[in-house]
Amino acid sequence: MSSLDAVVHGARELVVGPAAGGSTLETHADGAVAVVDGAVAAVGDTADVLAAYPAENATTAIDATGKTVLPGFVDPHTHALFAGDRSDEFAAKLRGKPYQEILAEGGGILRTVDAVRAASDAALVANLTAQLDVMLAHGTTTAEVKTGYGLDTETECRMLDAIAAAAAEHPVDVVTTFLGAHAVPDDTDADAYVDAVIADQLPAAANGPARFCDVFCEADVFTVEQSRRILDAGREHGLAPKLHAEEFTRLGGAQLAADLGATSADHLLHATPEDAAALADAGVTPVLLPATAFVLDEAYADPQQFLAAADNRTGAPVALGTDLNPNCYTHSMGFVVSLACNGMRMAPADAVLAATAWAASALDRSQDGTGTLREGTDGDVLVVDAPSHVHLPYNPGVNNVEAVLTDGTVAVGGGGA
Ligand code: NIG
Ligand code: FE
Repeated sequence: MSSLDAVVHGARELVVGPAAGGSTLETHADGAVAVVDGAVAAVGDTADVLAAYPAENATTAIDATGKTVLPGFVDPHTHALFAGDRSDEFAAKLRGKPYQEILAEGGGILRTVDAVRAASDAALVANLTAQLDVMLAHGTTTAEVKTGYGLDTETECRMLDAIAAAAAEHPVDVVTTFLGAHAVPDDTDADAYVDAVIADQLPAAANGPARFCDVFCEADVFTVEQSRRILDAGREHGLAPKLHAEEFTRLGGAQLAADLGATSADHLLHATPEDAAALADAGVTPVLLPATAFVLDEAYADPQQFLAAADNRTGAPVALGTDLNPNCYTHSMGFVVSLACNGMRMAPADAVLAATAWAASALDRSQDGTGTLREGTDGDVLVVDAPSHVHLPYNPGVNNVEAVLTDGTVAVGGGGA
């Protein structure tokens, strides 16, 4: 027998997702959503939804009067599994030391690699679980998590196992990315390391939970050609390509992502309108990570060039993610939406789409409607204590997510009927 998991009703604004055939945000005043057996069964006017799905029959009924209801956030780019503490580097960066100089001196990513190699399996699972808890409390219901702090076959596989173990027990829907090519370890050179990633790490990683393969394509890290070799090999093992592209230097990563038909190209601080056009033509979702620019005091990426390039083309114009990692230590997609609007001048409706439905496209999850509330999609629902989606960026620094449902079950808050 089917079960009425949840009814959320009376929302001042119900955010559905992109309007049919367009890229505007579809919302309903006095909206409601009903979730049956984990999936959205009805969405629309409160009177209609309650007539078909009476609140008293639901396991969870939430009166959202005066509030905003929207799909759970989708965070398409995180390095949420790590160990150790790099807050001392934060202080050094504030005094003007560049991120890449810290990395070149064996700090940054390489320090986190030491900490991850030294951590037990149980500690890795506990660390990721703790990060996912905070992400969920801020409204993230689907999140990508990358490896990349192992940089050897054993530790990369331990990271994949830890991601699978944490994900199996957590309400957040986790999408896994193999990022063996995140940095060049101290004891080898880039070419030899690329050979090792292809010969040893990838075949081992391919047996795990990873769906994607990513590379940090950057000056003094991995060249475009090295990135291409790894992403080609990843694809042979069934992993779809993603790329850290044009973060500090315009190296050609965006063009490579377009060439490969990658699922996403991420960062893009130095991407040009030509890069944006190439990504749009190839159906690659650009993922912007404004919190990274914020913490590094770099100029933000320009979202308008991606929105303009996507006009009259199919696919998501642009996505937003946290880039949660020890350099960029935020879990909050609400904060990212705030930065996107206040820092990058995105329209609130575009920023909300980029943090939900368009972010799902950066994880190849558009097909099942992830990041939208429509009949048949997962019942991942946020209740936000604010009168409209505009209040997310208008009220920065405040977590106004009051309740989170995942697959129709209360994961955070929930209040009463
Ligand atoms: O996406 N740019 C490369 N990787 C991460 C940073 C990881 C770290 O500093 O630990 C990023 O910003
Ligand atoms: Fe990253």
